[in-house]
Amino acid sequence: MTYRYITTPIYYVNDRPHLGHAYASVHADIMARYLRAAGHQTMLLTGADEHGEKIAKAAMLANEAPRAFADRHAQTFVEAWGRLSVEPDKFVRTTAPEHAKVVSECLSRLFEAGEIYLADYEGLYSVGQERFVTEKELVDGKLPEDKEPPVPRREPNYFFRMEAHRDWMRLLLRDSPNLIQPVQYRNEILKLLEEPIGDLSISRPVNRLEWGIPIPWDAEHVTYVWFDALLSYVSPLGYPDQPTFSDYWPSVRHVIGKDILRTHTLFWLSMTHALGIAPYQRLHVSGHLLGSDGRKMSKSLGNGVDPLEAADTYGVDALRYTLIREVSFGFDGIISNAVIEQRLNRDLADDLGNLAARTLAMTKRYRNGFVPPPKIYDAVEEAIISRAGELPSIVLTLVEEMKLGRAAEQVMDFVKHLNGYVASGAPWALAKDPDASDRLDTVLYTLLEALYSVSNLLHPVMPGKMNELKVLLGASVNPYWNLPWGHGVKPGSYVKEGILFPKRLSGDVV
Ligand code: MSP
Repeated sequence: MTYRYITTPIYYVNDRPHLGHAYASVHADIMARYLRAAGHQTMLLTGADEHGEKIAKAAMLANEAPRAFADRHAQTFVEAWGRLSVEPDKFVRTTAPEHAKVVSECLSRLFEAGEIYLADYEGLYSVGQERFVTEKELVDGKLPEDKEPPVPRREPNYFFRMEAHRDWMRLLLRDSPNLIQPVQYRNEILKLLEEPIGDLSISRPVNRLEWGIPIPWDAEHVTYVWFDALLSYVSPLGYPDQPTFSDYWPSVRHVIGKDILRTHTLFWLSMTHALGIAPYQRLHVSGHLLGSDGRKMSKSLGNGVDPLEAADTYGVDALRYTLIREVSFGFDGIISNAVIEQRLNRDLADDLGNLAARTLAMTKRYRNGFVPPPKIYDAVEEAIISRAGELPSIVLTLVEEMKLGRAAEQVMDFVKHLNGYVASGAPWALAKDPDASDRLDTVLYTLLEALYSVSNLLHPVMPGKMNELKVLLGASVNPYWNLPWGHGVKPGSYVKEGILFPKRLSGDVV
């Protein structure tokens, strides 16, 4: 048995999730579901990043205590993931006492090892990103992703000796071409590592910010939110001494957006190195979802699609499918209601839905709804059977590379091929010819069994709809992977008719 561990970003809970959050979580969830289907012992982690200035400020504006505010919003995230069919095995909260204990222990250990020291810090601080920034990063006086310019600050901070790990990180990235994917992000960080990166400020004075985990040996300071948050990838596994940690950690893959690439390379790799934790197996970095105006989707710009509204309007599975098909992972891309509607109407309703509806209707009409036994397979059927046999491993190879859209595309190409098979096999003509009864049995059975393969191959992407399809096919809803041809639908069992993906017209858009 192999263990696999997949994580999403640990989200700031200052609002409810938007489509950018859903993009990362849906990718992580689909990857985890595929790995689980393929027999790996898989754990998916998501969670809430609850400390720091951003949350403290949002709580103040809402006239609430930070803890009550964080409780309420963490719950909103839990519920939102449920509605988007994202099913984490663990939901970490950085305010959980078990997490705080791990953070304190790590800090003390690094302090004793001389990896942490106190010094005055003077610089520009971005509250939006919760970190000090350099002049080089600013465009028109502010970070491109921020609304407000950074503010000048001077204060005593504890520092972590990040610079001391730079050479090690450079060698690690140089020798591990697949550590960070897609490769442009690895190259970006390799370039950064050619020059000094400095040490990392990892505390905030309590007189400015109380909302954080106390520095164990100095009550005047709390831990910097990123130092705290990154450790939430290990604390839920029982780091440092629980078997869950040693079982799952070696396989860990983090799914993040490109806006948090630096923290997940410079900060996190140096922290893990200093703590003696093995570096992650892979970092999957997504691009940004853009609104129809071509700008990064964000609440404040009002150019986003609300994931929960979209799930209500188009169905959660059509939304999940669109997210992976429309924007190649690693690149920026636009998602709008119109795009989701088009994917639903064309790929899902016209191609897949129509194939299922026609196959089921013909089984009803020509065989009273009973799955016929196959008779003699011709070359056309042999080609379909062999493709159905190859697809699970083709799909999994793409999934391992986080090319989920390409994986789904392979299956949808198979669906198109099956639609072509309906047209050329012309069951309606066979039904008129009493001598073609065996042939009609074979064609119908092949279509039903191939649809059953499709329902397994796309289950991780569209769990709800693919279960519905299995029910229509009269097959078991248990997920199977690599099930040999002939073991899905059972001759003699009864199918139902139904419309899997009702089309939507723009006029219906909320
Ligand atoms: N709390 C930190 C992460 C700590 S991880 C130990 C954080 N949280 S966040 O809520 O601001 O956003 C996290 C992630 O949301 C981003 O990295 C990215 O994956 C995703 N996205 C937010 N907006 C996005 C888009 N418009 N498009 C795609 N993903 C983006 O940063």
